[in-house]
Amino acid sequence: MILCVTFSLVHGKYYSATEPHVRMKEKVTNLYFFFHDTLSGKNPSAVLIAKPSLPNNNDTSQSSFGSLYAVDDPLTVRPELTSEVIGNAQGLWVSSGQGSVQTLVVYFDFGFTTGELNGSAITVFSRNPVMEMERELAVIGGRGRFRMARGFAQLKTYTVDLTNGDAIVEYNVTVIHY
Ligand SMILES: *[C@@H]1O[C@H](CO)[C@@H](O)[C@H](O)[C@H]1NC(C)=O
Ligand SMILES: *[C@@H]1O[C@H](CO)[C@@H](O)[C@H](O)[C@H]1NC(C)=O
Ligand SMILES: *[C@@H]1O[C@H](CO)[C@@H](O)[C@H](O)[C@H]1NC(C)=O
Repeated sequence: MILCVTFSLVHGKYYSATEPHVRMKEKVTNLYFFFHDTLSGKNPSAVLIAKPSLPNNNDTSQSSFGSLYAVDDPLTVRPELTSEVIGNAQGLWVSSGQGSVQTLVVYFDFGFTTGELNGSAITVFSRNPVMEMERELAVIGGRGRFRMARGFAQLKTYTVDLTNGDAIVEYNVTVIHY
């Protein structure tokens, strides 16, 4: 402890010299998988954290405006949940649209757990207009192989159960990274 304090007093600077950024060659990786968001059943992968309690609110749907869910959704190579699991999306989604057309904002970390990408992840933070069958989310960062990533995810709803909210979504992600 004393040694640490002495070190910081002697070397009072807490930042390096700013140097030109040596440009590294950008690479592109394409990812294709299926995302399973399950609200129903005994072991849901998306659970309600909170929803607003407003007087005169007669919208009793599970994902009315303001509902916040935590997710740990499996990612598989094929649409069936029984196919190989290659990672999981952990994070939050919030029902963000006031109108009658449901829309979400999602904050997800897609972590991969198999093969060369084991331990790598992409970060998604985006509006997600779930009522549109095809939509696009922004990839804003990543970890491991995908450090400093940018990109986009093209989504297609594979199946959705409008009564309980369960959905399987095809993801086709283009990731640009170093
Ligand atoms: C709630 O119910 C009332 C009367 O049934 C209706 O006029 C109103 O539009 C409903 N509000 C919402 C947000 O659905
Ligand atoms: C992925 O990495 C973790 C942590 O290093 C390790 O425990 C696990 O066995 C690896 N899984 C595969 C399938 O390589
Ligand atoms: C995924 O997207 C890329 C580029 O947008 C496209 O070339 C490719 O055909 C798509 N793959 C699938 C399986 O849809």
